[in-house]
Amino acid sequence: MKGLVLAGGAGTRLRPLTYTGAKQLVPVANRPVLFYVIDNLVDAGVTDIGIIISPETGAEIQATLGDGSLFGANFTYIPQDQPKGLAHAVMIAKPYLGTDDFVMYLGDNLVGSKIRNAVSDFTLRRDTSAFLMLKEVANPTSFGVAELNDKGELIGLAEKPKVPKSNFALVGIYMFRSSIFDAIGRITPSPRGELEITDAITKLMELGGRVDCARIESWWLDTGKKDDLLLANDTLMDDWLVAANHGAVDGASKISGRVRIEEGARIERSTIRGPVVIGRNARIVDATIGPFTAIGDEVVVERSSVQHSVIMTASSIIDIALVEDSLIGKRVCVRPGAARRASLSLMVGDDCVVELSSH
Ligand code: DAU
Repeated sequence: MKGLVLAGGAGTRLRPLTYTGAKQLVPVANRPVLFYVIDNLVDAGVTDIGIIISPETGAEIQATLGDGSLFGANFTYIPQDQPKGLAHAVMIAKPYLGTDDFVMYLGDNLVGSKIRNAVSDFTLRRDTSAFLMLKEVANPTSFGVAELNDKGELIGLAEKPKVPKSNFALVGIYMFRSSIFDAIGRITPSPRGELEITDAITKLMELGGRVDCARIESWWLDTGKKDDLLLANDTLMDDWLVAANHGAVDGASKISGRVRIEEGARIERSTIRGPVVIGRNARIVDATIGPFTAIGDEVVVERSSVQHSVIMTASSIIDIALVEDSLIGKRVCVRPGAARRASLSLMVGDDCVVELSSH
């Protein structure tokens, strides 16, 4: 079984962060979303992984993920010239995938469950051509939607339908055999101009292939927009954060709840209320952090409070009463200007400087 991770595409919804970086590398609890994707594949024994990359963000993704040895895997990067659709990405990966079965995993998807059992079932059950994962959602029109019969079997699929036939969305994890290539060869681009994997799966069924599906019980999170990303951050820290202190905390600081402090981080005269993660070489001075906050590597927070926020690498927050519900990019500087307010809610892109009034 091989893996195929889709890490191309445009990432328009998470602008401005994605003007300067790949959406699959946006950090959740201080780890890029893609790391959780790879972890799940490797946990299932899938270690030969092809990664679809775009011309815009491919180099950054390669630099972050490396050759796979960090994860105990072997990565092969597959450039896609334009985001022509999920089925197009599968098609260009054909020379890599050959005749192997494969798990296709969208690189911006976060799920709370392991795929290990589904992968081993699919390997054993030779009578199925594909396997899909579904999750009940409130807004099915934003996703691929499954039509099921009363036995819960899949009878149809539609991509972002105006009138959905169920509330079951396709989670971005699919298992295929090489029969999918023939189906993709027989479809044409959709009205949005993409070769849709949902159309290819429909074609596979028309050609007589059996497609199984299962509902996931755990959470499934989108990292597409600010509030989604903050929710993903909350959920991951709640479920998976392991407390540890690899940094330096002075005697005047108080740490409570689950807090992870990475190497080189320094906490001075501050209060940290978990769940919180504090990245490498961050400096927290006379500050209050948390709960539900991820402070990136090299971030500086001085004389400020930060809660329920994600602050990315090398940003600084100085003399701000309260930053909350905020997503702050890299190398952002937040500091008072002429006037001051009690609370802020920000979404600021990389390399910005925000100057605030001081009363
Ligand atoms: O998130 C689940 C949904 O993902 C499914 O319910 C839909 O059926 C499926 O079509 C897909 O919908 P999206 O519109 O959300 O897909 P998006 O364009 O965001 O792309 C998903 C990932 O695949 C993302 O990491 C970018 C990558 N990608 C996308 C395209 C179109 C590529 O690598 N190449 C591409 O050509």
